[in-house]
Amino acid sequence: MHRFILICAWLLGSTAWAQSAPPADAAVAGVQSANIFQIAPGADADPKYKDQTNGERAQVQPGNNAPMWRQVGQGVTGYSSLPKSQAPEAGNLIQPFVQYPGSRLTNAGEAWRQVRNRYLIPYGGALLLIALGAVALFYWRKGTLELHGAETGRKIERFTPFERSAHWANAIAFVALAVSGVVMAFGKFFILPVIGTALFGWLTYALKNIHNFAGPLFAVSLVIVFVTFVRDNLPRAEDITWLLKGGGLLSSQEVPSHRFNAGEKVLFWGGVFFLGLVVVASGLVLDKLVPGLVYERSTMQISHMVHATATVLMMAMFIGHIYMGTIGMRGAYSAMRDGYVDETWAKEHHELWYNDIQAGKIPAQRSEPTVRATKTATTA
Ligand code: HEM
Repeated sequence: MHRFILICAWLLGSTAWAQSAPPADAAVAGVQSANIFQIAPGADADPKYKDQTNGERAQVQPGNNAPMWRQVGQGVTGYSSLPKSQAPEAGNLIQPFVQYPGSRLTNAGEAWRQVRNRYLIPYGGALLLIALGAVALFYWRKGTLELHGAETGRKIERFTPFERSAHWANAIAFVALAVSGVVMAFGKFFILPVIGTALFGWLTYALKNIHNFAGPLFAVSLVIVFVTFVRDNLPRAEDITWLLKGGGLLSSQEVPSHRFNAGEKVLFWGGVFFLGLVVVASGLVLDKLVPGLVYERSTMQISHMVHATATVLMMAMFIGHIYMGTIGMRGAYSAMRDGYVDETWAKEHHELWYNDIQAGKIPAQRSEPTVRATKTATTA
């Protein structure tokens, strides 16, 4: 009985095998997987192995795409059917090799990262801290620059309402940009550890949008500030004396100046005009607001490096300006807030301007006095 069952099982098994096995000469249809070690053992021993194109490699090692990925890594641009105007870099996954100032010769994305992390962030941050430290030191040694003489009560209009509106629109946009920019660039060092990744993500996302919208406002108000103040910032001979003597700010005797002294003129031409132009131009590129420009990754990388360098220099300069315009000099801030200064202030800080007003060459009141202005002029 036992032997009978075994013989039946053997017969059934061999019949099933005979039915399922394909004929030896049948053609294999469809996509076949292949084991590259079985197909071309030792294909990499070929001296031309490393120079093979992707097509050649596929002949000896199907499925091995290394030549294509090597080209991608070297920045080769492949074919893309997308229109160049809308997707200028669709055929290029990894950018070609470049060497940005301060980077190694490497893929542009990596080169940009090196410049940002090795130079812009550490040196930019250091410059801002040095500027803050310098004004803190100046305040510690000199305190607020006070008037020497007594106030007369007679007022001179230093800034018209238009001039003040232009200035404050610009200053508010600047502060919004500076705060959001600093958090975006340096926040991960001093805010992230305190509030954590989730909140920091939301914060920087919100600030990035504020930055993008405040930028064009800053650009427009900067042009108005430039046009408004350019005339009184034109260089004059006495500016040289002022610069050579450092304005006399370290001694107690200020060097006479016209409406704006040489220090203010340096800020105007260097900070408002030159750096302002660079910051605004690169910022508008980053905002993709320049019509007709092809926005490739390299365009953005170069604009970013220029923007970051110029903004850090600009912020360092304006830290000095904001210091002088607030706690650094008594009477400066109220001049920009209400428009008026006392005659003693004008005589001590801008003597040549004061002399011209006394001589009747410049009117002491330039705008149509409003009720508030009259009140300020008589009570301030
Ligand atoms: C919170 C920020 C700011 C404060 C507190 C501030 C304060 C002042 C004050 C008090 C003055 C009058 C100085 C004087 O009477 O001689 C002044 C003048 C001026 N400010 Fe500002 N300012 C600020 C931001 C800015 C910004 C961002 C800009 C431009 C980018 C700017 C451009 C000017 C210009 C052009 C003048 C006229 C004097 C000159 O030409 O140098 N200010 N500011």
